[in-house]
Amino acid sequence: MFFPGILCGRQPDVAGRLIFGFSIFHEGSGYVRIPKITMEGFLERKNILCIGAGYVGGPTMAMIAYKCPQYKVTVVDINHEKIARWNSDDLPVYEPGLDEIIRATRGKNLFFETDIDKGIRESGIIFVGVNTPTKTFGAGAGKAADLQYWEKTARQIREASESPKIVVEKCTIPVKTALAMERILTSKDGSIRFDVLSNPEFLAEGTAIRDLEFPDRVLIGSRETPNGIEARKAIVDIYLNWVPREKIIESNIWSSELSKLVANAFLAQRISSINAISALCEKTEADIAEVSRAIGLDSRLGSKFLNASVGFGGSCFKKDILNLAYICRGYGLDDVADYWESVVGINEYQKERFILGILNAMFNTLAGKRICLFGFAFKADTGDTRETPAYTVARRLCEEKAELIITDPKALDNARIDLQDTDGITYEPDPYKAARGCDAIAVMTEWKLYTELDYERIYDSMSKPAFIFDGRNIMDHRRLHEIGFNVYPIGKRPLVHFT
Ligand code: NAD
Ligand code: UGA
Repeated sequence: MFFPGILCGRQPDVAGRLIFGFSIFHEGSGYVRIPKITMEGFLERKNILCIGAGYVGGPTMAMIAYKCPQYKVTVVDINHEKIARWNSDDLPVYEPGLDEIIRATRGKNLFFETDIDKGIRESGIIFVGVNTPTKTFGAGAGKAADLQYWEKTARQIREASESPKIVVEKCTIPVKTALAMERILTSKDGSIRFDVLSNPEFLAEGTAIRDLEFPDRVLIGSRETPNGIEARKAIVDIYLNWVPREKIIESNIWSSELSKLVANAFLAQRISSINAISALCEKTEADIAEVSRAIGLDSRLGSKFLNASVGFGGSCFKKDILNLAYICRGYGLDDVADYWESVVGINEYQKERFILGILNAMFNTLAGKRICLFGFAFKADTGDTRETPAYTVARRLCEEKAELIITDPKALDNARIDLQDTDGITYEPDPYKAARGCDAIAVMTEWKLYTELDYERIYDSMSKPAFIFDGRNIMDHRRLHEIGFNVYPIGKRPLVHFT
């Protein structure tokens, strides 16, 4: 409901014009007092700021700057080293195609800076792209989203603002976070108008530039009030520079916030579903690739996200599902929470199954054996290792006293940091050198390069019997078997030389 003019106020906008009126609206349990300000208050709507220069903030803002030369886009971060890297040739994020876009825009209408207050003062539209990891302490530890970074940002926007702002949630947050954001922003003296919007990001790492340039949809949620709808239009206008109108979806703000969590939960659920079936395939001599193909040709199901694997990784699937489940529990929906938590449960089961598969195949002892991990990134075409299944596998293999050699074209620096407290690991960028003298290779990341190596050469350099465990089902299993390997795919009959 919207009650215009219930309270009256009077305050100058940035240009010194006097603007009258307050509005109060009530949605669900939240009452928020928002000053009404005319459009003229938004002098800097062509100045966009993004707070948070990470995997999302950097590439999304680069794309906006690239497609909208009439906007000035500034990206800020508390991490000054990261900003320095965005201003160098050594970008902090590896994404195919990102370098070119940065080169075309940086210093023209895209700027990476450290003065957050100045950025806030000078911008009419502020995207918030800070991290929202799983909480590791206190109530909800291990499940709820840790909102401390987001909250600090809201307070900083409130303190530094001298003119109206549209504040856009780009990060993934629990449904109803916008209400808390509004409460913080308007809790000072209420003299500045803030419109909080939700514009969740759906890009996937490794394909971020393509996803940003040709999105399946762009979702923009706002309060369904005149102010909210007017602010929503300002964000629609940005995307209209390159996204077809029919792909820009508008919704109420809570639907937008919730849709992001649900999209990730559904994607992860498909992977856990196919991985659960992969376990059954291994017992029944059905082949998971054939099952995936057969069900994926049903147009109601579709063929994507049906690749059985060692398990999903990445910074978001697990955290977003656990967060979704936590929210459900908060509303007393325990059965719903149990359902979604089981998606994460199957993912843990799949990783453990993979590890035990290696142990069983290699005669139930790995002590002193050399095992080479092909890939450490959580997926191909990224150097990101957050929640990578390779980390779990590496730790567990070391517990079994195996000697590990890890190779990856982009993720070795992160691997070294992730495993710095684990002894007995060698890091080797060259896969041929990495595999030399090893007893087994475990394919952890679906890098195309691993399908193109000379496996006869690799086999000849390995200890015998030589094993390959294909945690991504990307290899030519029959060919590897012909070369002499004992081959263990996911969800398929192993191809071995033992009688
Ligand atoms: P990230 O960790 O790569 O980047 C977040 C950045 O925010 C960091 O550089 C950090 O220093 C900065 N930051 C934290 N607090 C700050 C503050 N108070 N002021 C200024 N900067 C601050 O995280 P990310 O992967 O970019 O994810 C950001 C959000 O986007 C998360 O909510 C995530 O769930 C969501 N998301 C991520 C992806 C992805 O592919 N990584 C995709 C879609 C959505
Ligand atoms: C995922 C979503 O796809 C994005 O839409 C979303 O914006 C993003 O999370 C986020 O919110 O962070 P991302 O994690 O970057 O993107 O990568 P995905 O392509 O979704 O892959 C996630 C994991 O699932 C990877 O480990 C991948 O190897 C694995 N996967 C994917 C499978 O095991 N099987 C598949 O069929 C597909």
